[in-house]
Amino acid sequence: MDFSSLRMDFPILQRRINGKPLIYFDSSATSLKPKQVIGAEARYYNEECANIHRGVHKLSEHATLAYENAHKGAAKFINAKSWQEIVFARNTTETFNLLMYCFWAGNMLKSGDEVLISKFEHHSNIVPWQFLERKIGIKLKFAELNPDYSLNMQDLENKITKNTKIVSLTHVANSTGTINDVKEIGKIAHENNALFVVDAAQSIPHMPIDVRSINADFLAFSGHKMLAPTGIGVLYGKKELLEKMQPFMYGGDMIKSVSEHSATWNDLPYKFEAGTPNIAAAYGLGAAIEYLQKTGMDKIRKHEKELTKYALDAIGKIPKIKIYGTQNPETQGGIVLFEHEKLEAHDLALALDESANIAIRSGMLCAEPFVGSINPRGLCRASFYFYNTKEEIDVFAREMQKIIKAFG
Ligand code: ALA
Repeated sequence: MDFSSLRMDFPILQRRINGKPLIYFDSSATSLKPKQVIGAEARYYNEECANIHRGVHKLSEHATLAYENAHKGAAKFINAKSWQEIVFARNTTETFNLLMYCFWAGNMLKSGDEVLISKFEHHSNIVPWQFLERKIGIKLKFAELNPDYSLNMQDLENKITKNTKIVSLTHVANSTGTINDVKEIGKIAHENNALFVVDAAQSIPHMPIDVRSINADFLAFSGHKMLAPTGIGVLYGKKELLEKMQPFMYGGDMIKSVSEHSATWNDLPYKFEAGTPNIAAAYGLGAAIEYLQKTGMDKIRKHEKELTKYALDAIGKIPKIKIYGTQNPETQGGIVLFEHEKLEAHDLALALDESANIAIRSGMLCAEPFVGSINPRGLCRASFYFYNTKEEIDVFAREMQKIIKAFG
């Protein structure tokens, strides 16, 4: 696979700013979008703009079909048993709120129950559970990390008790890029009668995922990190669990029948998709999944492993830079978390942008308990996708050296 030829699919990569190309190392925040996805979203507005499930006319029929096909595409992509196990939401954060609210509203959690997460979770897998700590008195527990920034599996096991009802873990940490052994964690959770929830926001775009082999009860991801537009995310849930759960929001489309004082709920997945959804983004998600499948998730993972190894070597050679992570491309996704011993993270990020249009993320990375424990003023993160090249990493390393020489 010639990954560099795929760059032509991304209009933004053809852009020049102050005569220089863009070097985009912030795909963990959001990925760039290929013309196939932009075209699919435009096709909805240009050719098939209508509401879904609400009209008998052609346009509505076409839009409904495309919307359902996007669910079917997502189901196939993660090897779900049925497309009814695929609920569309706005993003991963919304799906975590959906889960938290449904567990609460359906009395599936009570005071004293425990939710076990880890020390390097994204805020969306921390803050919703904190709400239940305040509201009903659940206990939120954190599994520790090892000194190499891998998950301490022993501590995870030690922290599970008979009160643990949910084990909710990231697959790939958005800060260090650590890949967790979700299959093993799922096994431990189920042996202890806990539900297993996976935050796959940082893994789905980059490697093959099979929800059945992971045996996840729920798995969440965002479209916008996997080439799709913003405003669409997916909650996978085992059908028997989704069927038992109360709806998250009430109103249009999520109902089967309504009388003045009661209502019954639509079939899955629409029971959880109240109101007119982001139809255009669903067209885009469908196209993004097709694009990724055509490219091949195995090939993407292999290419990104090479990029990560190259980046770890290049960044590791820069004086006074410290990298946080396993620093092993087998156990680390395409993310490098680092800091300079003197320069502030935001200053370094700004200087890279100013000098060579290099976009990285700096600050707390939506993972303040973890990132802040290393440096309360934040860290820098370079994150890669298949459209990045070794040449870009060379420019990045060169610019870093220059900036550090001038200011550090
Ligand atoms: N969660 C996204 C990130 O890690 C926004 O940058």
